[in-house]
Amino acid sequence: MLDQLFPLKRSATSGELFLRLPAPHDNLILTPPRPDDALALVGIINDPEVYPWLGRPAEEYTLSDAKALVEEYTASSNEVIEKLENTVDLEGLVFAEDCPVRSIREMQTDGTDVFIGNITIKRCNWWDVQAPERERLKEANAALPTGHPEIVWQLSDFLASSHHRRGIMSVVIQTLMTEWAIPRMGVRQMHVSAFIGNTGSVRVFEKNGFVLTTTLQDAIEIRGERRGLHVLDWTYTHSEC
Ligand SMILES: CC(C)(COP(=O)(O)OP(=O)(O)OC[C@H]1O[C@@H](n2cnc3c(N)ncnc32)[C@H](O)[C@@H]1OP(=O)(O)O)[C@@H](O)C(=O)NCCC(=O)NCCS
Repeated sequence: MLDQLFPLKRSATSGELFLRLPAPHDNLILTPPRPDDALALVGIINDPEVYPWLGRPAEEYTLSDAKALVEEYTASSNEVIEKLENTVDLEGLVFAEDCPVRSIREMQTDGTDVFIGNITIKRCNWWDVQAPERERLKEANAALPTGHPEIVWQLSDFLASSHHRRGIMSVVIQTLMTEWAIPRMGVRQMHVSAFIGNTGSVRVFEKNGFVLTTTLQDAIEIRGERRGLHVLDWTYTHSEC
């Protein structure tokens, strides 16, 4: 029978699903979220190297915010895992609506691991587009069935500042796209944005084939401040798989 969770692997000890990054980053794995991630998330997201670049509404990111996020991510990961595990399809692999492995973990020499960041892929919410056009785009995108090539997707990511500028997020995105998003979700189009000034995020996207299409001044209000956005698009080409 086909393994509908291919190419994810399972830990021999815990049974947890994982996807390993290629060398030289093979000490890093992506796994589903765990409840313990919430505490680490509070530290990472409140870091002044990270927080200004995320579209969080409140001034301070609390443990209850983090718990809610982990619960949301866990529910979404579990839904995909259960659906794929219960699929009996001898014809081929079926498309998934999400990537169940999204927590980035660094393996330690003693066999434990440390949560260092997150990557999420979901249907695009067009942050850069004003209502009512934004609502129209979201509705049309939501109406398409899982795996449809016209779905437009977005990525969001963050990494602990202790691990910035080591090439990690570039490889996380490349691995997620080539191993899961393109073959297992049928992702063919992506539309992302980063606040003006977030050179690192723009560069990470560009290294993965995204093209900067526009820069919008005063595009969105976050925590009482108007912020501008760099907008980037990605379209599938056969060289990506
Ligand atoms: C943006 C972020 C995910 C980048 O992750 P990362 O693992 O540090 O990025 P990489 O090491 O893969 O860097 C890729 C490229 O970007 C460059 N870069 C990374 N951070 C940079 C920065 N702050 N300023 C300028 N260039 C930067 C690197 O030099 C590298 O370029 P090169 O390969 O041409 O030499 C990370 O800085 C982060 O978590 N920032 C806070 C949260 C955030 O901005 N999330 C994205 C929201 S859209």
